[in-house]
Amino acid sequence: MSIDIEILNGNAAWPAAEPLLNAVWPSEIKATRPWGEVTFAHADFRVLVEADDAGLVCHVGLYRRHATFNGRAAHVGGIGGVATRADHRRRGLATIALNAAIQTFRHEGSLGFALLFCEAATVPFYQARGWHLFEGEILAEQPAGHGRFDVLVPMVFDLVQKPRKGVIDLRGLPW
Ligand SMILES: CC(C)(COP(=O)(O)OP(=O)(O)OC[C@H]1O[C@@H](n2cnc3c(N)ncnc32)[C@H](O)[C@@H]1OP(=O)(O)O)[C@@H](O)C(=O)NCCC(=O)NCCS
Repeated sequence: MSIDIEILNGNAAWPAAEPLLNAVWPSEIKATRPWGEVTFAHADFRVLVEADDAGLVCHVGLYRRHATFNGRAAHVGGIGGVATRADHRRRGLATIALNAAIQTFRHEGSLGFALLFCEAATVPFYQARGWHLFEGEILAEQPAGHGRFDVLVPMVFDLVQKPRKGVIDLRGLPW
């Protein structure tokens, strides 16, 4: 299998990403998850991994947010929508896409840390790739208002800052 990795504008790449994301999280599955009712932000950029013989096989959404950490401005790189097509898992594709995402954040230079939200079962997967649990509080916007976001586990990847505890206010929708 030969693969091609692209990083594209989030809205422009949505038509390509949508079928994969709907296949990985069909609405009936989403409805059973604690995050099924959450309103999420749209990705600013998307890492797309395409296989020559199978089309899009892996996706990672990238977000940039002027958030706050313990009340101070924090420029955060977000990662969400990490998904590999079921028949292409355990071949290192998500690892490649996550590395491409972190490289992109590093090149940007202005980001303090990267942040993602995952289910508890996926924590070891990210820990094995250099991510750390954030054991503080996350605040975010939802249509009902601004408040605590605790239906998923927050994890950070250190860039300049190494947040582990405290309060991160996303000052917008979660991802
Ligand atoms: C979680 C998910 C994205 C992982 O995608 P993936 O492309 O299979 O990930 P990788 O192949 O990089 O790594 C998965 C495992 O395969 C192993 N692996 C990687 N290359 C391999 C290879 N060539 N042969 C065998 N195993 C391999 C890795 O070591 C890893 O194991 P580990 O978690 O014990 O370290 C995928 O399972 C998925 O889409 N799940 C459903 C959606 C989801 O839960 N997304 C996470 C949202 S936060």
